[in-house]
Amino acid sequence: MPLVLTGFMGTGKTSVGQVVAEKLGREFVDMDVLIQAEEGMTISKIFETRGEAYFRAREAELCARLAARDNPVISTGGGTLVNPQNRARFGEAFVVCLDAEPDEILDRLSGARDRPLLAQSVPNPRQRIVELLDARREAYAQIEWHLNTTGKTVEQVADEIVGLLQPRKIAVTAPDSVCPIFVGSGLLERVGKLMNLTTDTFSPYCATITNPRVGELHASPVIESLRGRGFEPRLIEIPDSEQYKTLDSVSQIYDQLIDARLDRHSIIFALGGGVIGDMAGFAAATYLRGVSFVQLPTTLLAMVDASIGGKVAVDHPRGKNLIGAFKQPHAVIADTNALTTLPAAELNSGMAEVVKHAIIDDVGLFEMLEQNPHPDPITRSKRSWVARAMQVKINIVARDPLEQGERAKLNLGHTFGHAFELLSNYGMQHGEAVAIGMVCATRLAAQRDLCDAHLVSRIENLLSTIGLPTRVPREMSADAIWAAMATDKKRVGSRLRFVLPRALGDVVIADDVTREEVENVIDELQTAS
Ligand SMILES: NC(=O)c1ccc[n+]([C@@H]2O[C@H](COP(=O)([O-])OP(=O)(O)OC[C@H]3O[C@@H](n4cnc5c(N)ncnc54)[C@H](O)[C@@H]3O)[C@@H](O)[C@H]2O)c1
Ligand SMILES: [Zn+2]
Repeated sequence: MPLVLTGFMGTGKTSVGQVVAEKLGREFVDMDVLIQAEEGMTISKIFETRGEAYFRAREAELCARLAARDNPVISTGGGTLVNPQNRARFGEAFVVCLDAEPDEILDRLSGARDRPLLAQSVPNPRQRIVELLDARREAYAQIEWHLNTTGKTVEQVADEIVGLLQPRKIAVTAPDSVCPIFVGSGLLERVGKLMNLTTDTFSPYCATITNPRVGELHASPVIESLRGRGFEPRLIEIPDSEQYKTLDSVSQIYDQLIDARLDRHSIIFALGGGVIGDMAGFAAATYLRGVSFVQLPTTLLAMVDASIGGKVAVDHPRGKNLIGAFKQPHAVIADTNALTTLPAAELNSGMAEVVKHAIIDDVGLFEMLEQNPHPDPITRSKRSWVARAMQVKINIVARDPLEQGERAKLNLGHTFGHAFELLSNYGMQHGEAVAIGMVCATRLAAQRDLCDAHLVSRIENLLSTIGLPTRVPREMSADAIWAAMATDKKRVGSRLRFVLPRALGDVVIADDVTREEVENVIDELQTAS
């Protein structure tokens, strides 16, 4: 895949491109230099003698030619990708737009002569730069990746670009381990390589646990990747859905692990949503007193929530997740390509947790979602929205690995949410229940004057533009909701706790919420239009 660097003149496309190409060991092509060589004259001369239209046609032809090459690093002319057809020609490429502030551009260009759009005769070059930047703003905005180069050296910018190409690697530090977390597209086929897995460290007998649906869609690349590193993976499939997240299924898993000769040095791969991750993780925590396991989350919820933090569990007839353990995975590898096969309702449900994390600790992510409530699930960037949503949980878990304090913040929307799920007989999606729960919690906070009405409407607006519900179903009475919350509390033997937002990025835990306050909120939300 070609790597294309574009951006305004003076943003460093050529110098950065050369360094990036060197670092990656790839061929470097500067389009302007190539056109000059092919035409036997400078760009200014081409503009002068043949006109801009001729130059643009040459550029278009060159884009098509270069896009077909294997792996070049290309720096374009400043205007090349203003043309949507040229952007389309590089549709398969990884395109990065370099940005810089006008003053920095002016600084970098002082002394440069061969800039036809900024000829010596221009009376106020700074103003000209601002005008040109304005004129191109919309076109540049169409480019997926942007990198601000202001105040950075060529080397720094080049390193950032090389970083963009790598899957993002973040780490959770737990008391006794560090768990690397990879997020990016196309990672399932690189599982073995990414973790530097070898049969020297692990036994060749390993297992991939999944369900038939996810297995059919996504198991082959994982199995192939493991075979490529000398492993002999056994594919274990447990029927789909929460009702199979039981000790019974775990027992079937044990049978197959024994059959497949997994030993204490074996490793288990959990490929699927939270159900598979929780169950396979529990099997890994207990088989032979614990073997290593890797989370390969394939739902948005599992990526941003369930796979991080080392809680694994199965359900008991008396309640969800009652039998479990703390077991940090050896690694988490989140391949965002998997999200493209996820049903829309599941993606939406995961979005509720993304919004939850944004409210708890990432104002920028919240604002980004306000701008773009349906972001592209396939993410390659270091600062991708999926990675950002994961980071919020990672930070909290790193500070409170065993859930003794701050980790309770992650329950924002869940005290109400669990009650709604229960009362709907689990007909309501978890994310839908959490969305309504977050609205309830924020309204409760507003009633206590912890936050203002503006926060309530921002949160409600974002959730509803995403397509999540924000109103309590009329058939659920305040009495029933309070009773359901009390049952939940009794079941887990804890106090009734609410996480209340004070502002974006600032939530507090309250355990003195009264029945009357809860009733008021439900009332408000059942009558509000
Ligand atoms: N351990 C934790 O900290 C933690 C945190 C939150 C939730 N959980 C648990 O997570 C579970 C919910 O997880 P979930 O929402 O991922 O549900 P899930 O695992 O049931 O997956 C949802 C559905 O999507 C399908 N699916 C998964 N990936 C797919 C893909 N890429 N393409 C197409 N279909 C795909 C599954 O087969 C399933 O039908 C619950 O059991 C919950 O208790 C655990
Ligand atoms: Zn949740």
